[in-house]
Amino acid sequence: MEYTIKTIGVLTSGGDAPGMNAAIRAVTRAALNNNIRVKAIFRGYKGLITGEVKEFHTEDVSNIIQRGGTILKTARSDEFKTTEGRQLAYETLRREEIDALIVIGGDGTFTGGTLLAREYNIPIVGIPGTVDNDLWGTDATIGYDTSLNTIMDCVDKIRDTATSHERVFFVEVMGRNAGFLALNSAIACGCEAAIIPERKTAEEQLEHFIGSGFRKSKNSSIVIVAENSVPGGTQVLADTLKERHPEYDVRVTILGHLQRGGSPTANDRILASRLGVAAINALLEEQRSIMVGVQNEEIVYVPLAKAIHQRKDVQSDKVTALQILSI
Ligand code: F6P
Repeated sequence: MEYTIKTIGVLTSGGDAPGMNAAIRAVTRAALNNNIRVKAIFRGYKGLITGEVKEFHTEDVSNIIQRGGTILKTARSDEFKTTEGRQLAYETLRREEIDALIVIGGDGTFTGGTLLAREYNIPIVGIPGTVDNDLWGTDATIGYDTSLNTIMDCVDKIRDTATSHERVFFVEVMGRNAGFLALNSAIACGCEAAIIPERKTAEEQLEHFIGSGFRKSKNSSIVIVAENSVPGGTQVLADTLKERHPEYDVRVTILGHLQRGGSPTANDRILASRLGVAAINALLEEQRSIMVGVQNEEIVYVPLAKAIHQRKDVQSDKVTALQILSI
C-alpha cells in the first residue's frame, strides 16, 4: 500500500441532500472503529482551500442521523476549479496530515475530487449524495427518496385544490437534467403525465398529453415537469395549453428548494449509513477514485469517471406504466 491511512478528511459539496448527515455520521464512526482519525472539512472544497478543518470524535456526530441538510455546510467553489485553488486545497491536506478524502455529493463534487486525485495522487472515495439521483452506477443516491416523498406530499395537496377547481396544474420539480424525481413522483401521485428530459421534446410530450384525451374522464389534471426540460421554462407549457384550450383553467407551481429539506426517510438513512461504512472499507481495501453505490441491494465500487460520465436512464417500463395508468 502506498499510503497507510491514518487520517481521513470528509466533506459535503454541491447541493445539500437529506441523509448527508447520516453519511457523515457513518463515515466518522466507521473510521474511528478502524482507528483512523477523522478531520471534518467545512463548506466543501471552499473550506478545503481556506483550511476550515476540525477533528471529529464520535460525539461530534451524535444526534444528527435524523437531521436534514449537512452539519458540515456545503458550497459550490469556483476557485477549486482552478489549478491554483487545488494547490491550496492540497496544502491544507498536507498540513492537516489527511491521507485520504471522502467526498459526499453529486457529479460536480466527484469531478473536483477526480482532478485532485489525479494531480496529487490522493486516494478519494465518493459517496453519492444528491436529490437528483443522476449518478450512474448506483440504484439510488442519498436524498432522492426523501425528496420524492416530499414531492408526493406536496402534489397530494395540490390534487385537492386541482379537483375542487377543476384545473390543470403543471408542477415543476428538481432534477437538474434528469427526470427521476419527475417520473417517479408522477407515478406515485397518479398524475396524468410527466415531462422529462430523457424522452422526446417537451413540446412533443405536451402534444401526447393533450392527445391522450385526458378531459374525457377527468375534469382536473396534474402534469409533473422536470426542471430544465422545457426551453423557456414550465410557464411556456401552461401558455401553450391555454392558447390551444382557452376553456381550461391552468396553473403552474414550482416546488423549488423545499424539495431539498426535511428529515431523511428510513431508506435514505439506511442507504447513507451503509455507504458511509462502505467508503471506509473501500479505503482499507486500497480502492481509490471510486464511488461506493448500491446495485440490487448489494454494495458496489464504481470508477468515479464512470459515475460522472455515463448517462443513467429512466426505466422505460415506468414511462409506459404512467401512460397506461393515466387514462
Ligand atoms: O443538484 C441538486 C439541485 O437541487 C438540482 O436539482 C437543482 O437544479 C440545483 O441543485 C439547484 O441548485 P441551487 O441550490 O444552487 O439553486
